[in-house]
Amino acid sequence: MKELIEKTIKEFIPSGFPAEISIPAHSEFGHYSTNVAMRLAPIEKKAPLNIAEELKEKILNSAPKGLFSKIETVAPGFLNFWLSDEFLRKELLAIYKNKKKFGRSNIGKGKRIIVEHSSNNIAKPMHVGHLRNTILGDSLANVFEALGYKVVRWNYLGDWGTQFGKLIVAYKLWGNRKEIEKEPIAAMTALYIKFHDEAKSDETLEVKAREEFQKLESGNKENRKLWEWFKKESLLEFKKMYKLLGAEFDVWLGESFYERQMTPLIAEMLEKGIAVKSEGAVVIPLDKYNLLPGLIQKSDGASLYLTRDIANIRYRLKKYKPAKILYVIGNEQTFQFEQLFAVANILGLDKLAELHHIKYGLVLAEGGKKFSTREGRVVSAEEVIDKVKALAKEVVSKKNPEMAAKKADKISESVGVGALKYFNLKEHRHSDIVFDWEKMLSLSGQSGPYLQYTFARLSRVIKKAKRIGNYDLTRLSNPEEMALVKKLLDFPEEIEKSAEQFGVNNITLYLYELANLGNRFYETTPILKDADKARLNARLVLIDAVRNVLKTGLSILGISSPEEI
Ligand code: ARG
Repeated sequence: MKELIEKTIKEFIPSGFPAEISIPAHSEFGHYSTNVAMRLAPIEKKAPLNIAEELKEKILNSAPKGLFSKIETVAPGFLNFWLSDEFLRKELLAIYKNKKKFGRSNIGKGKRIIVEHSSNNIAKPMHVGHLRNTILGDSLANVFEALGYKVVRWNYLGDWGTQFGKLIVAYKLWGNRKEIEKEPIAAMTALYIKFHDEAKSDETLEVKAREEFQKLESGNKENRKLWEWFKKESLLEFKKMYKLLGAEFDVWLGESFYERQMTPLIAEMLEKGIAVKSEGAVVIPLDKYNLLPGLIQKSDGASLYLTRDIANIRYRLKKYKPAKILYVIGNEQTFQFEQLFAVANILGLDKLAELHHIKYGLVLAEGGKKFSTREGRVVSAEEVIDKVKALAKEVVSKKNPEMAAKKADKISESVGVGALKYFNLKEHRHSDIVFDWEKMLSLSGQSGPYLQYTFARLSRVIKKAKRIGNYDLTRLSNPEEMALVKKLLDFPEEIEKSAEQFGVNNITLYLYELANLGNRFYETTPILKDADKARLNARLVLIDAVRNVLKTGLSILGISSPEEI
């Protein structure tokens, strides 16, 4: 919609001059507004309000008939536009008929995007930060999918590095197969901890760890088998979590996949003069980028995280020819990615695809504290999900004391997970998140459960009506109805905006506002009791359209919409 208005204005201003259209927060300033006249004033050397007046006349004379009901100029030079009810009704009909396709587009048709997210480290527990990562990455993948991109969801597992030498030493000394099989991640974490404790008094352990890792790198059968087993057991546990979160991946290649490319890659960088030797190590100087040199080989010959990421970009570009690669990973890796992208620039790789570090802030417990247990241990992702599910169960049982236990369980799971996701996504990704369980699960505030509840409520109306009969959309005219239609119209632009800013907090807000308007309409209008059947059915059309947009929007956030809650 914004685009249509922009196009209309652009006919009357110097070519190439931007005409930014905004959606005013208050309806008295119109459905859309622009300050283009104010921006033009210094160039045209005229009073902004005069320019606005002139533009208004020109637009009124040329705009498609019936598009605007009103255009107003407001000092010092704003132009405010109102769409006509007639136009809004026409749009409503299209939205209603498009059902679940409304909002989706094919802007990205023929283009591929790799969305790398989650990327857990093998043998290490998933914590709230990983939850934020997985939830954000999954929703961004959904956004691009909705825009017609071919999306590759990539879990770049942390499955290589010297830490595996430590784990192998610890396992050989103190490990127990059964314990790992029973609770893989907890048992492996305990082994790491023991290793570090013991290494404080026994210096030979670190040496042994390096030896074991070297053995692993050179293909030693025993170590290879152990490593594969650690990986398998970890993945079993991660996958349980992904299932709960509804997160799926197309590619599971992690750091170890690039292991064999390390030696030739380092040699190539040296040969091309991109890298230099420095005190036995190999580095890529990055002073041109105001960065510290990128270390790609340690003096003991081991490759690094950065080295594997260089190989990783190359492989992705060659195999997938993506238009964009998104790396979803927290703020704390900013420096690594600045180095990586600088190296990509030296190699000309950033000309082949856009590379974006999708960073995000911290996740903190209530009161802004670190997420840890009373004993000081980091709270695991699983514990967080268990808690939110239990809290959701209380909400659901309170609302439906009579619901069968099995059904209540299922609904509680989608309400709990939905609450957690929404709470994570509603914050701008650069901001830290401070947990507030009550807000997260509230049925009336800006929360996942509130949106699910609204969807269920509107679905109930449609169900009760049984069918939508002959409708006459001209019977819709009251301000609540027209405000709802206008809000529906904004949906596609919100999805595009998410793709531009690589974040979905605008969608979370949009859906909340839509739900508020939907509830206000529901609460102020006696829908099913209407004797005027053509109006009754027109209102059902509107409700059905709202319900579908809520559902599509929630599904982009990765949140399900049960018909009952
Ligand atoms: N496994 C890493 C970690 O947890 C994150 C990987 C990020 N992606 C990348 N291509 N380096 O710290």
